[in-house]
Amino acid sequence: MPKALSESPFVNPHNCARIKSVEEKILEIQKNYLEKIQKAQNLKELDEVFLTLFGKNGEITLLPKAFPKLSEDERRKVGPLFNQIKQELERAVEARRNEVREEGYKNLVNENLDLTNVKLRNRGGHLHLTTQFKKEIIDLFSKLGFYQFDAPHVEWDKYNFEYLNIPKDHPSRDMWDTLYVDTTNLEVEPGQMLLRTHTSNFWPRLMEKGQTPIRAMSFDRCFRYEAVDARHSHTFNQFEVAVVGENITMANLKFLSDYLLQAILGKEAKSRFRPKYYPFVEPGVGIDCLCVFCHGKGCKICSGTGWFEIAGAGMIHPNTFKFTWLDPKKYSGLAWGFGPDRMLMIKHGIEDIRHFLEGDLKFLEKY
Ligand code: PHE
Repeated sequence: MPKALSESPFVNPHNCARIKSVEEKILEIQKNYLEKIQKAQNLKELDEVFLTLFGKNGEITLLPKAFPKLSEDERRKVGPLFNQIKQELERAVEARRNEVREEGYKNLVNENLDLTNVKLRNRGGHLHLTTQFKKEIIDLFSKLGFYQFDAPHVEWDKYNFEYLNIPKDHPSRDMWDTLYVDTTNLEVEPGQMLLRTHTSNFWPRLMEKGQTPIRAMSFDRCFRYEAVDARHSHTFNQFEVAVVGENITMANLKFLSDYLLQAILGKEAKSRFRPKYYPFVEPGVGIDCLCVFCHGKGCKICSGTGWFEIAGAGMIHPNTFKFTWLDPKKYSGLAWGFGPDRMLMIKHGIEDIRHFLEGDLKFLEKY
């Protein structure tokens, strides 16, 4: 028999060696693969075997391409054989899959967690980067006499908006994409309960009590209806301070901003104020920090501006005093809220805000 024919069953349509070869090929696949399937030790190996058989270019998938070249007699013989072996292989894969799974479960039962193992014992965890940062900042401001006051995450509309000079249906509400709580079963009017959109809800709660001076801070979670990407998250942190007393001025705001920035980013860091609108402060400012990477020259990280925005702040609006016992003629106040997540991203070169909420060990172990 010419060598080429025995190697390729499809060369000469009239050669009787051809039908034997297709048959042979099928039987060869059956023998080889039944063995391979039986030898597979885990699901991954089984998946690989399955793909080489039934994948897009798998041996079984490609085989019928040769059938049109066969005579009717030949096809009558090869067709059923092919179907039978295809099914046999499918069943074998499925059966081995179950076996491998069962073996895996058995191993799990026999697995012993040795708690006296020194390696395991020494693997102790550590505080999350955000918690470390929270401790650092809370310590920093405690030194200036600030006390911690945490307001609820699930909040009433009045503390998140109304007492902050944002009446119902006011267009400025669009500044915060708010998640409302479904209160159908709670005997609460719809739209009254929400997930707080900022930490600013803490100071109307304090001012309402009417005690001065207020020198409080909150480092906590906030929530917004955001499309999640590398820079935005539905759940994020804010650090906010509020001071209410006599003779509080913008100079205090400037001092606090530089105090924070220099403690975190080093002595060179400094802040800049830009006019910015927030309904609950007058005047309102956006606080920028001199870019620590290019020292104000403009680089990729600060988008060429030399600065990055880190906080919103301002002098508490006299209208917010309406809801308290405090006299706005006698007292003034400042409030200042900044994004610790963004600050940490800048400080450590973290590119994706989602890392803060995911439990990825690679990220957790790095910080
Ligand atoms: N609450 C504002 C925000 O979330 C920030 C802010 C706080 C602005 C305090 C002014 C004063 O966008």
